[in-house]
Amino acid sequence: MTHFLDIHTTDRDRLRSIIDMARAMKTARGGRPKGTLDDEQPLAGRMVALIFEKPSTRTRVSFDMGVRQMGGQTMILSGSEMQLGHGETIADTARVLSRYVDLIMIRTFEEATLLEMAEHATVPVINGLTNRTHPCQIMADVMTFEEHRGPIADKKVVWSGDGNNVFASFAHAAGQFGFDLTFTGPPPLDPERECLDYAARMGRPITIERDPHKAVQGADLVVTDTWVSMHDPQSAKERRHNQLRGYQVNSALMAKAKEDALFMHCLPAHRDDEVTSEVMDGPNSVIFDEAENRLHAQKAIVRHCLGV
Ligand code: CP
Ligand code: NVA
Repeated sequence: MTHFLDIHTTDRDRLRSIIDMARAMKTARGGRPKGTLDDEQPLAGRMVALIFEKPSTRTRVSFDMGVRQMGGQTMILSGSEMQLGHGETIADTARVLSRYVDLIMIRTFEEATLLEMAEHATVPVINGLTNRTHPCQIMADVMTFEEHRGPIADKKVVWSGDGNNVFASFAHAAGQFGFDLTFTGPPPLDPERECLDYAARMGRPITIERDPHKAVQGADLVVTDTWVSMHDPQSAKERRHNQLRGYQVNSALMAKAKEDALFMHCLPAHRDDEVTSEVMDGPNSVIFDEAENRLHAQKAIVRHCLGV
């Protein structure tokens, strides 16, 4: 059973081949209309369940389109409308769904839910974001960086803001793809120890620099994300904004990075909170390529999981 649960739990060579396949599939499609099928139909006859326990625009639409382009079919399920939200165990849900569909993608809250789904499913399970990680996003981000700047190995990536789930997958990717990662943010919002320890064990210890202007010096890529994630209580919003205001990515901060430094954000962004519109819409921003590449990267992830 080949699941795609996290970047650090996926074989490094497989990660590289997923990126290569994503690029090849993107090139092969060229600019053809989005609703048309790929030349190859590796998902013909396959059904994919997309389960969402949290809102989504990109993950939902890109998985749905990607599976369809490869000849498969999808069903989109909202967690609250399933028995999952009304007391049926994750394990039983996994066993039942495995009798109907060929692959399960789930966006959920607790990592334990994802892991339990994977343990009991007899079909592959893909992590579409948990409170702890967002691996599909970072596969698209690595692909996007490399499209614009070549190999990401040994490049300097700087994360400014909350040490959240998206950061954790960046930390895992630093270990697997071999780039240098710096975190700049306030101590209360530091990343989880687990992802820092992992990167260090992989020979890519993460630098923590509290001064964002020092942190971005020499950066090839500057990244941020929302200050309040979907799993954070709304009551924490004001406190988080106060803690993170100094870590906004704006033109003054980008000016300290390399001149050709890219800017990324997984989106959705809160314009003029974590990043200014000037940076989002500026020449160094690749946020919409990043969003597009969710489609291509995930198509390759689905093929990797199904072995097709
Ligand atoms: N970046 C991302 O996962 O976006 P959605 O929440 O819209 O899926
Ligand atoms: N950190 C954000 C990412 C959204 C794609 C969240 O979890 O809400």
